Amino acid sequence: MSIRFDENKKTFTLETAHAAYQMMVDRDGFLLHLHFGDKLGGGSCAGLLDTGYMDFSPAPDIEGTYRNYTLDLLPQEYPVFGAGDYRSHCMNVTLADGARNPELVYASHRILSEKPVLEGLPGLHGACETLEITLRDRWTDLEVVLLYSVFAEYDAIARSARIVNRTGAPIRLHAALSVCLDVQESGFDLIHFWGRHVMERQVERTPITHGKISVDSVRGTSSHQHNPFVILCDHMATEDAGRCWGVSLLYSGNFVACAEEDQSCSCRVTMGINPTGFEWRLENGESFQTPEAALVYSGEGIGALSRRYHKLYRRNLCRGEWALKQRPVLINNWEATYFEFDDDKLVRIAEQASELGVEMLVVDDGWFGNRFDDNRALGDWIVNTEKVRGGMGKLCERINALGMKLGLWFEPEMISEDSELYRAHPDWCLHAPGRGKSRGRNQLVLDMSRKDVRDCIHDMMYTVLSSANFAYVKWDMNRHLTDVWSAELPADRQGELYHRFVLGVYELLERLEGEFPQILFEGCSGGGGRFDAGMLYYHPQIWCSDDTDPIERLEIQYGTSFGYPISTVGAHVSASPNHQTGRTTSFHTRGVVAMSGTFGYELDLRKLSEDEKEQVRAQVKQYHRQYSLINDGDYYRLLDLTAQKDISAWEFAAEDGSRALLNIVYIHVRGNCPPPVLHLRGLTPDASYRLTEDNGREIGVWTGAALMNAGFRPARSNACYPAGATDYAAFQIELERID
Ligand code: GLA
Repeated sequence: MSIRFDENKKTFTLETAHAAYQMMVDRDGFLLHLHFGDKLGGGSCAGLLDTGYMDFSPAPDIEGTYRNYTLDLLPQEYPVFGAGDYRSHCMNVTLADGARNPELVYASHRILSEKPVLEGLPGLHGACETLEITLRDRWTDLEVVLLYSVFAEYDAIARSARIVNRTGAPIRLHAALSVCLDVQESGFDLIHFWGRHVMERQVERTPITHGKISVDSVRGTSSHQHNPFVILCDHMATEDAGRCWGVSLLYSGNFVACAEEDQSCSCRVTMGINPTGFEWRLENGESFQTPEAALVYSGEGIGALSRRYHKLYRRNLCRGEWALKQRPVLINNWEATYFEFDDDKLVRIAEQASELGVEMLVVDDGWFGNRFDDNRALGDWIVNTEKVRGGMGKLCERINALGMKLGLWFEPEMISEDSELYRAHPDWCLHAPGRGKSRGRNQLVLDMSRKDVRDCIHDMMYTVLSSANFAYVKWDMNRHLTDVWSAELPADRQGELYHRFVLGVYELLERLEGEFPQILFEGCSGGGGRFDAGMLYYHPQIWCSDDTDPIERLEIQYGTSFGYPISTVGAHVSASPNHQTGRTTSFHTRGVVAMSGTFGYELDLRKLSEDEKEQVRAQVKQYHRQYSLINDGDYYRLLDLTAQKDISAWEFAAEDGSRALLNIVYIHVRGNCPPPVLHLRGLTPDASYRLTEDNGREIGVWTGAALMNAGFRPARSNACYPAGATDYAAFQIELERID
C-alpha cells in the first residue's frame, strides 16, 4: 500500500521508493500540505505548521474571534482565490450570486487501486494507486475532487483536479490550475526552459525571491518560448546532490507555472492552464477536469530527477505499439528537397538510403493539393498526382520494394486561404467576424473545437492513410493562435476556446491513432514548439528543433533532457554547411549528436562523398548496436552547459553497469587549456572497464571507481590523443565491463 490515512491525525501519507508526500485535514477541515520530500519514517510533520498571528492575514469565519489562524500562511493543497490566502492560487470562480470566496473543506476520500482515465485528456497510465479527496465549499455544493496517483518506483505523484458544480446554478471559472506545491522554506532556485523557434529549451536557473516568477504561454500551444516543465531546487542542488522537485504539465495549450516566495518566506509553485484568455461556464451538474501534472521528487540531485522522468514518461506516458519498440532510422526529404520533388526523385533518394542501411523514407511537406510553396494548400489533404504519380499506394509499393517503410507529413490544424478547403469553408478558421485575421507563415488556424472541422480533416487524412502501407506520420503545427473566436460558441463562452481547441486536437489524435495503431506518430511544431508531456501521450517522439546544426543541438537536446526521455527526441544528421546557421561540422559530429535521440537523416544522401556514405553505414550500425543503451539506459549530463560552453559531455549507462557510452563534443577549443575531468556515472565501482573509441581504437582499462571518483580526462586540444580535438570534434567512447 503506497497510500495511508491516519484516522486520528487526519493525515494522508503517500509513499514512493525514496520519498513521502504528506497532507492533513486540519481542525477546520482545510486540506493542508505538509511534506513532499525524503521519507518520514512513518511519522507526521504536522508540527511544522506555523499557526502564529499575522496582522493583515485574516482568519476564516469558523475561527470566530480567534486570531492565530490564517490561510494566508498555511501550506495548501488547492488554494482558492478570495477566501483569505493572498498568494498565487489554483482556483478562481464566480458563483451565480456573484460571490467569489468559496472555502474548500474536506468532505470525503477514497483509495483506488488504479488511476481513473481523465476523459479527453492525456494522463499517466500503468500500475499505481490513487487517492481521491473530495473538497466542498463550506457554503455551497461546489466540489473539487483532487486526484493523487502514486507511481512509487519513480517517486512520482500525478495530480489533477475536477471542479464539480452542484450549486444548483451556473458558475464561471476564471482559473482552474492543476497543482500547487508549497514548501515551508526559502532558499530555492527555479529551473525553467525558455527559447524561440530553432532554439528551444534553453536552461535558465534563477533564485526564487519575494514576489512571483512565472513562465507561461498564451500562444495556444505550449510553445518554443517556454516549456510546461519547471524544477524547484535547493540553491545548492547539483546534478548529483540536493533536493529538487519537478512539476511537469501534461498539456499542450496555454499554461502558466508560477513560483513565489511569500511574506513568511515559504515557497509556492503552481501550474496549470493559463488563466489569461480562459473563462469556463460550468452549468449545474457539470464538471471541469484540469489537465494532469506529474510531480517528481529527488533528494539526490537534478540528474536523478531527470532519470526518474525519463523512465516514467517512457513507460507510463508514451503509449501504443511504438512506445517501447525500436524506432526505424529514417530519411526525411525536407532539407534534401524542400518543395522540389516528385515520386522519382523520392525513390532515388530512398534507393540510396536503403543501400546505406536507412529503414524509412518520410515524405515531408509538399505532396498534397497545390502545395508548391508554403503559401497555399494547407487543408487540401489530397495527393498531388503530378508530384506523386500513381498516388501514395504506388509510391509505397516502390519504397517497400526497397525494403524500406514509408512515412508522411501532415499539418492538420491549419488552413491556407489559397486552398479548396478555405474556398468551401471560409468560416472554419479562427477569426472574429468583421475583424482582420493575423497570418503566420501565411496560414490560418482551423477551429479545432468544431466537430464538423475535425470530421472533415479526419476523413481526408483517413483516406490518404488507408491508401498505402504507411508506417509513420509527422504531425506538424506551424503557427501560434490569434483571433481566437469560434462561430460555434456563444459570446459568453468564447473564453473556453483555447482549451476546447486543445481538446479538439487531442480528440482527433486519439481517433486517428486508434484507427492506425501500427503507425508511428511523430509530433512537431516548427521543430520543438509543442514538445510537452501532453503530446507525448499521443506521439512517442517529437521533432526536437528545426535547428539541425549539431552544435546548436547540444544545448537544445541538453535542455530537453531535463524533463523528457531520449527516446522522444527527434534528431537528424543534416547537410553541412548547416541550413539554419551556416556552420560547417564533420559528418561524425553530426552523427554523434543525432544519435542521442530518435536517429535519422535529413539531407540528400546521393550528394555525399564515398567516405561519408561509409560513415552513414557505420552510424546506422552503431545506432542499432547502442539502441537499448541509449533508450533504456540511464542518461547522465556530465558537464553543466550553463556554466561553461566550451565542451559538452554526456553518458548513457546500462542499469546493471555492464556497458556505457560516453559522448564528448568540443565546442570551443582554447590554447593550452586542460579539458575538464569527467566524473563518469552508473558504473560498477569494483569492476574494470575497457574504453574504446567508436573508430575501434582502444584507450585503456580503468576501474569503475576510478572513472567515477577520480574521473576521466578527455584529450587536450593540442595533444595527439585522441587525435583531432578541434572545434566541433566529437568523440564517442564505449565502456565495456570486463570482469
Ligand atoms: C516545419 C517542420 C519542418 C518541416 C516544415 C515543412 O517547419 O518543423 O521539419 O516539416 O515545417 O513545412
